[in-house]
Amino acid sequence: MGTKRYLAADVRTAIESVKPLGSVVDLFSGIGAVASALAPDHHVVTNDALSFTTALSRARFCAGRRSATSDILPKIKLRYREREDELKEVHESALAKESAALTGDWIKLAEFMEEYPHVGTSADAKRTARACSSAITSERYSLTSLYFAGGYFSVRQSIQIDALRYAIDKEASREPDWDWMTSAWLSAAAVVINAPGHTAQYLRVSGENSQKRVRRAWSRDVWEVFAERVDAISQEGTTSWRGKNVSCNTDALKLITSDELDGIGVIYADPPYTKDHYSRYYHVYETLYRYDFPASNGFGRYRDDRFVTGFSVKTKVEAAFGALASGAKARGVPLVLSYPDNGLLGLAGVDLMGLLESHFSTVTVKSRAYNHSTLGASGGEQKKLAVENIYVCS
Ligand SMILES: C[S@@+](CC[C@H](N)C(=O)[O-])C[C@H]1O[C@@H](n2cnc3c(N)ncnc32)[C@H](O)[C@@H]1O
Repeated sequence: MGTKRYLAADVRTAIESVKPLGSVVDLFSGIGAVASALAPDHHVVTNDALSFTTALSRARFCAGRRSATSDILPKIKLRYREREDELKEVHESALAKESAALTGDWIKLAEFMEEYPHVGTSADAKRTARACSSAITSERYSLTSLYFAGGYFSVRQSIQIDALRYAIDKEASREPDWDWMTSAWLSAAAVVINAPGHTAQYLRVSGENSQKRVRRAWSRDVWEVFAERVDAISQEGTTSWRGKNVSCNTDALKLITSDELDGIGVIYADPPYTKDHYSRYYHVYETLYRYDFPASNGFGRYRDDRFVTGFSVKTKVEAAFGALASGAKARGVPLVLSYPDNGLLGLAGVDLMGLLESHFSTVTVKSRAYNHSTLGASGGEQKKLAVENIYVCS
């Protein structure tokens, strides 16, 4: 998610240069590279508009004693098999068609993917989704099969993903366990997904090479990857560090003026820098996490209530930065900001240094060249060399 792992050590240095007297607020925390670099020395308030990222933040940076893996995993596996069996029965004919498509030529697989009924295109699937959304039995656990099968995941994997969510909701009811298991589940979905680094669209089949890629992605076993991810999602820092961290899920520009931030020491902001909305690029994980059967249309299967932000709209980006700077100034705390040279603000003709200097008496900047994620958008490139700037405003 445009992770700033490569920049995290420099951001930490910049944050320490202002000698914060309270927690560090990471307003656009994504998957938490900066929070991770601040452990265990500076308490953090992480925030992101996408709610699925908060499960990861809570699992890694917040308090709570987890059960032992050897206690919880066998219970989850039992429940998982239970729901998997039910779903295999429901989708028996789709599974048979899928296996024929996977063993046939590329045209057969392409046709299977094109014709697979899902909520974006099928009235039947929409009706079933409505019924499942209000079910209080295991029938509810069908979302992936209805929304993302035959594209982002195979039918078989969709069944596994739904069965796992059922098992997690049933057996990991304590919050620290639920956050941990749900993070491992989302992380497993991200490993097996048939998509480039983001999920704005899935990979289609248009020849033998793409057939190989889809077959490879669709053949991965969700349970196996999940069990690996359970071990990988570890709690970071120390118990006392995690005890004072907080995870929020709201618009950064709302949070900056809210009481929740009283007593903080510094604000770190790493806002989006392109016109591509994160909510479109990561919509699959958001819908999996929320498991709320949203209205969805078309082949991309996007939820129709996607979050949009002024930071990614050329005509609104200047106002968004103005609100960020004035919000930090009104709180009387320093603002550390990372933003690349080629960000949308510059493309909108706004000089960021000038904007920051109109709010703060001291603004310094350090610049470095990095390989930047482009979200695989516009030109189709995944990485681009860019100059990243870290502004320290006080
Ligand atoms: C450049 S990424 C941050 C990456 C993060 N620093 C990391 O290392 O993982 C921007 C993040 O801001 C989130 N976002 C976009 N607009 C937002 C807003 N108005 N309020 C809060 N979060 C927002 C996106 O979902 C995305 O995760």
